[in-house]
Amino acid sequence: MSYADPPAVQALRQDMTQRLADDGHLHDPAWYRAVAETPRHVFVPLFHRQMDGEWAVVTADDDGYFDAVYSDRALTTQVSDGVATSSSSQPSLMVQMLEALGVEDGDTIGEVATGTGYNAALMCHRSGDKSLITVEVDANLTRLARARLDEVGHHPTVLTADARAGFPADTPLDRMIITCGFDAFPYALARSVRTGGVIVCPLGWGNARMTVGEDGTLLGRFLAGGSYFMKARDENGTGDVPYPGAPGNPTHRNAVIDPRDLGHDGFRFVHSLVVGEIGEAREMTDGTVTGHRMWAGDGSWAYVQHGTVHQSGPRRLWDIVERAYEWFESHGCPSRERFGVTITPEGQAYWLDEPGQDLPQEWPSRRP
Ligand SMILES: C[S@@+](CC[C@H](N)C(=O)[O-])C[C@H]1O[C@@H](n2cnc3c(N)ncnc32)[C@H](O)[C@@H]1O
Repeated sequence: MSYADPPAVQALRQDMTQRLADDGHLHDPAWYRAVAETPRHVFVPLFHRQMDGEWAVVTADDDGYFDAVYSDRALTTQVSDGVATSSSSQPSLMVQMLEALGVEDGDTIGEVATGTGYNAALMCHRSGDKSLITVEVDANLTRLARARLDEVGHHPTVLTADARAGFPADTPLDRMIITCGFDAFPYALARSVRTGGVIVCPLGWGNARMTVGEDGTLLGRFLAGGSYFMKARDENGTGDVPYPGAPGNPTHRNAVIDPRDLGHDGFRFVHSLVVGEIGEAREMTDGTVTGHRMWAGDGSWAYVQHGTVHQSGPRRLWDIVERAYEWFESHGCPSRERFGVTITPEGQAYWLDEPGQDLPQEWPSRRP
């Protein structure tokens, strides 16, 4: 890598790297060197911070910019029509995923969601430019990432494509890392990874590490840490399920669980698997969650506030959440890494502890 930066910035980067190691996120010396020697600020020349509901841009001219860039924080790097559409992910989450990928020398790696190009730069540092093909849906981001990678001396293949349709390169991959969120894994991507290859992908609020079997089945478990990625989208979209507005004639009943129960980290993950692809919004009063709204593309809608739940549509979303909470508690609040997933071209199924140990049938785990 040809890039050199000021000693003060190097010191901040070294501190961040060491903290990631001290906090138990970073173990592998090769990834340690990659983080310590890759200038994140080149890939994040500005970020957007939300203040009082408005987005403000922070650049190298602003106080706190370098401290933020060299902290364990996700930074929003693109906002479109008021909605965040790209970010540099949280470094501790990134290194957890990179280490889980189990990269070996000589591996060909595919990355879905180039974003800023920072994760791509880490992989080029670890494995060499020739090893990496990275794909981003947003042509403007592809252009910026390519230029920044170039600036630090890396020249991987950077392509613009919607990866939901499959990986846009013929080269068989040994490893695939995905850094945008999915509820249903797009199986077309698996066709580019060789038998025995590894895929690390955010599914719901977790990260699955899956191996490709001889018959093409993906089998894997969730990593221990949480995962909060922007949803996969098309070039101009946000990936969010649009809010349909409050429907007429909802049913009402007393809520059994409170919206604050969704704050239980383990249940937040289970909740994300159970409800699948939905939109959600929390209501806060004086820093406390007081309401929760959920909606789905099939017209299902639920709103919980002041102990009452209002619901309509083909699925009673809050009923599903409450049954899942009961299941979660009655199974001793299992942690993320006890969950796994099996994916075939026909769909995906989550399980607890062992493959085949299916979760309650209403979990939308099987998809056409
Ligand atoms: C969290 S950012 C990725 C972070 C990136 N790995 C980095 O190091 O900066 C998510 C990115 O996914 C991209 N993305 C969303 N949907 C996509 C799709 N269908 N195909 C490819 N990229 C997609 C977004 O445009 C966004 O840049």
